[in-house]
Amino acid sequence: MELNNVIELDKKYFINTFGNRTPVCFKYGKGINLWDKEGKKYYDFLAGIAVNAVGHSHPKLVNAIKEQAEKLIHCSNLYYIESQSKLAQVLVENSCADKVFFSNSGAEANEGAIKLARIYFKKKNMPEKFEIITLDKSFHGRTLATIAATGQDKYQKPYSPLTPSFLKVPINDLDALRNTINSSTCAVMIEPIQGESGVNLTTIEYMKGVRKLCDEKGILLIFDEVQSGLGRTGKLFSYQHFGIEPDIFTLAKALGGGFPIGALLAKNHVAEAFEPGDHGSTFGGNPLACSAALAVMDIIFSENLVENSEKMGAYFIEKLSLLAKKYEFIKEIRGKGLMIGLQFSVDKAVEIKDKCFDKGYLVGSIGNNIIRMLPPLTVSKEDIDKLTEMLDTILSDV
Ligand SMILES: Cc1ncc(COP(=O)(O)O)c(C=O)c1O
Repeated sequence: MELNNVIELDKKYFINTFGNRTPVCFKYGKGINLWDKEGKKYYDFLAGIAVNAVGHSHPKLVNAIKEQAEKLIHCSNLYYIESQSKLAQVLVENSCADKVFFSNSGAEANEGAIKLARIYFKKKNMPEKFEIITLDKSFHGRTLATIAATGQDKYQKPYSPLTPSFLKVPINDLDALRNTINSSTCAVMIEPIQGESGVNLTTIEYMKGVRKLCDEKGILLIFDEVQSGLGRTGKLFSYQHFGIEPDIFTLAKALGGGFPIGALLAKNHVAEAFEPGDHGSTFGGNPLACSAALAVMDIIFSENLVENSEKMGAYFIEKLSLLAKKYEFIKEIRGKGLMIGLQFSVDKAVEIKDKCFDKGYLVGSIGNNIIRMLPPLTVSKEDIDKLTEMLDTILSDV
């Protein structure tokens, strides 16, 4: 089928929530590269928005999916599931958590985290604690509770009245948080690095302060690592940058390497609040999704992708800093590991993103002055050199 026919079908039959999509339909991918229907090659510096962490169609991931699909795709959570137990073990043994629950997406993992925080206090006979404090400019998902948790009007306005009991405070402002915590607060929920609003970093001092404040007030700390987890920031989990541990944290995006799966992880004393019947999922933790995620975890460890993310991230920022010296309209480079944002003082991000696309490079834009890059964790120096050389040419025209 030609691209035009795909677009025609999309316009006629698909509910248009994604606006005018970039006019391309990819046919296959390998590592950091994608090829479209016409055979044009692209360098994917967006990786499905932080999903294709191990690159496209990694043979180990493909084989794991194939092998599991031939054996058993789905069975109910009424029965024990081998790959689910094994994946839970891998995640727990490599994190600060004691227990895991699997979902199908990031929003759903966050819903679970919100429910767990609330039920934790209900079971402690403190039902008055149900409010959750989140940050301005945060993004936690598209369900009704997670858009209420999200600190961005544009996602919320069409759906008011919002699910109640979510309060917002500015990022890196400990006093604001201290003043907002009240007797109804049950948890603080934070993206350690905000992704969707333009790669905004929390400081170590702030995060340590948040942990201390949560301990003093006896409330829970939830980290949304849906985007920043699993090596993306140069640590396996982004809480490791701050020398603190959350009580609950969530994962999704990279976990299945493209196969939908999310996870909610918690310390024992918190996880215990979920008892039989309190939470559930038909598809969450199914054999196929967990086999895919087990393969992803194996690739992350065996190919040292966390270390690569740290090293390549530093190299990437170094190369971008050279561009910033040359082009004064590059206002700021923000990032950790391979979660990188480039902010301009001019409203040119969409134009620059489109020009990158024309040259065969996929990057993201946020608003009209931020470019976001989230390449696979397998990215090499050569890939980064190619991208920055191409960017140099484009920026010289701006
Ligand atoms: C930090 C964060 N939380 C939650 C979500 C929602 O995840 P999903 O789209 O899988 O529901 C996203 C998606 O971009 C995200 O970046």
